[in-house]
Amino acid sequence: MNNFSSISVKLPNNPYEIHIGQGALNNFKTFIPPEYKSHRQFFICDSHTEIYARKIAGDSPLFVVHPGEAAKSFTVYQSVMSFLLDHKINRNSLVIAVGGGVVGDLAGFAAASALRGVPYIQIPTSLLAMVDSSVGGKTGINAPQGKNLIGAFHQPCAVICDIDVLRTLPEREMKAGYAEILKYGLLGDAEFFEWLDENAASILTLDPKITSYAIQRSCEMKAEIVITDEKETLGQRALLNLGHTFAHAFEAVMKYDGRLLHGEAVAVGMICAMELSAKLGLMNPQNIERVVQHMGRLGLKKSISDIGLGQSITADNLLEIMRGDKKASSGQIRFILMKDIGKAYMDNEVNEDDVIALLSNMMG
Ligand code: GLY
Repeated sequence: MNNFSSISVKLPNNPYEIHIGQGALNNFKTFIPPEYKSHRQFFICDSHTEIYARKIAGDSPLFVVHPGEAAKSFTVYQSVMSFLLDHKINRNSLVIAVGGGVVGDLAGFAAASALRGVPYIQIPTSLLAMVDSSVGGKTGINAPQGKNLIGAFHQPCAVICDIDVLRTLPEREMKAGYAEILKYGLLGDAEFFEWLDENAASILTLDPKITSYAIQRSCEMKAEIVITDEKETLGQRALLNLGHTFAHAFEAVMKYDGRLLHGEAVAVGMICAMELSAKLGLMNPQNIERVVQHMGRLGLKKSISDIGLGQSITADNLLEIMRGDKKASSGQIRFILMKDIGKAYMDNEVNEDDVIALLSNMMG
């Protein structure tokens, strides 16, 4: 099937295309923007995605990192920079990230900072990276003080999503990635949610047409949001963080060691955001039941008890972590709340007592 869809991210200074379809990697060269076709390529991947990188790298230099969040460290960043500089990267070079969110963030930041910025292409190999982290130009690494605290906004010059590479993705990661697709329906497109409610099971079994459309619609929505608020200063881009204020707290407790995947934390976080919205009288609680049933049918994590935070963790502990989130503005925690399915908005004025009461109840 040579049936690819392309979405334009129409950023005034950095426009680029996202190409989606089965077998897209076989057409890799055709998707390189004309102005970069003769650039020398530098590939960055991990040992799980090396097979895809080697398929397209030819004789180009290629750097392989260990899989996992630990690759977003100073040490690994330094090795990537040494690799690029040792191989004489210059402004006529093109960095190509082949991997999930970790590789994309790391390679993107290396591209942002090498020689003050060289172009790069994202080839996401996980569902989560295809619909979220590879699009929109957020790049970075972690610091001992917290996740993603060192980074840059650096837009890729193209994103290439080949759904064939998802065939080797573990089911658990497919489900976690699906949560970010569901997020788009919940935050801004009730019709998409209805479509997902009918079709989501076929995404998990990788029906090519259904999966391509789900990725396409998610990327369209992300592109629309990113072009209105590229650097997350106007509130619009924050909508992409539906469920994330809760999710980041769950992830911090679980220490990013693989027991809780980001998408799993987001799935439960979105239910918390809906519960908070209902508690504040903003949204009909029946919507929560619909989404919980949808998640349940797909086997997603959907309640705090599914996470296994441990008996010693309290609602106060979670709130404390939320206060320290880099997105809390002047000590006030930022929540994305919902008025309905498809109608999310940012709220900086939620009373912390309501959050404590909600979490205590949900942790019951
Ligand atoms: N993942 C949220 C964003 O890109 O803004």
